[in-house]
Amino acid sequence: MTGATLEQSRANVQPPKTQSRRAHTLHGKSEGQSQLDRWRAAELVYSRRIIAKEYASKPWILSFYRSLLSSRGKDRVRSILDVGCGTGFFTRFVANQVMVPLKSPATVLGVDLNRGLLEAAKRQNLGGEAEFEYVQASAYSLPFRSGSFDLVTCRTLLMHLSSPVGALREMQRAARAGGRVACEEPDYGMVGFHDPSEDPEFAEASRRVRAAEVRGLWRMYGQDYEMGRRLPELLHDAGLRRIMLEGMFRSIMVPCDPRIKAASLGERLAAELSYYSDEVNLDEYRKTLRAGGLSPKEINDYLRVWKKRTGQRIKALQRSSRAKEEDVGFLALPFFFAVGRKPLSK
Ligand SMILES: C[S@@+](CC[C@H](N)C(=O)[O-])C[C@H]1O[C@@H](n2cnc3c(N)ncnc32)[C@H](O)[C@@H]1O
Repeated sequence: MTGATLEQSRANVQPPKTQSRRAHTLHGKSEGQSQLDRWRAAELVYSRRIIAKEYASKPWILSFYRSLLSSRGKDRVRSILDVGCGTGFFTRFVANQVMVPLKSPATVLGVDLNRGLLEAAKRQNLGGEAEFEYVQASAYSLPFRSGSFDLVTCRTLLMHLSSPVGALREMQRAARAGGRVACEEPDYGMVGFHDPSEDPEFAEASRRVRAAEVRGLWRMYGQDYEMGRRLPELLHDAGLRRIMLEGMFRSIMVPCDPRIKAASLGERLAAELSYYSDEVNLDEYRKTLRAGGLSPKEINDYLRVWKKRTGQRIKALQRSSRAKEEDVGFLALPFFFAVGRKPLSK
């Protein structure tokens, strides 16, 4: 849809003829249904608001994206498709921040399985230079003609799919020849974590739990929480070329950092504690850790100590803000952003 108006883009919304609708099964349910059950608009809006604030306070993040995505000359972007857009956080960020200033308004489409999230995305359109539209569709079967978009993006979608390469092939198909497909995914296998207040035995148990969780999610649901490192391989397998990749840390948490307020640290810890005190969540977490290779005893021992420690940290924070100053723990989660090009001719 290079240089297309929104009207033309609407005309392009029709099922592709060549794509067969494969059933993707996950955990006994259809994968689509499980994804619909999973994401809540209010939670996504809240967590993305925090990310947006972080982006706004760290100007180098914008440079990071702009260094990989330009919109000049033959790379001029007038049409963007964001797949698995949820409540449209990344859709708006790429269109209004990364691609700005655009010389002419761009057509921007967000696609997601979940109608509720798309409705929330529409309510959040905050203006800017682009025109937005949201369409309900599956990443495995995008209802657009081949070659319709200059830029096709997705963020934290592939890690949740049983066939990330299937989705990427569709994204590649929807991109124009010479156009780009850009994906952002985290890698939980590369999480940086250090808590000097942990005794060595508990520190070792924490390491095993983190690894078991990643393994368990893969074994139970086929979800790959180490997706970041696989982006070059998957983009290549989907037929994209001239692949570039860069990484950055998100979710950096260093409690003693004066920019982190004691109250917000307390809130965050309390939310975690309450999440893992809920029977349904706990049951799910236990199942995942079991699938990841931990014994029930290892899981119980770990959870008991973790809950006790977290409760003590919350109480200490309530008593005095000095507790925060003394907390020199470290947590950092890497995110990777990969961009590939659809070849001009096969
Ligand atoms: C972690 S959320 C990411 C949302 C958004 N990209 C962001 O970063 O805020 C994953 C999204 O993928 C969507 N999703 C999952 N499977 C999908 C599929 N097969 N087709 C389209 N969207 C899908 C979910 O509904 C959800 O909105």
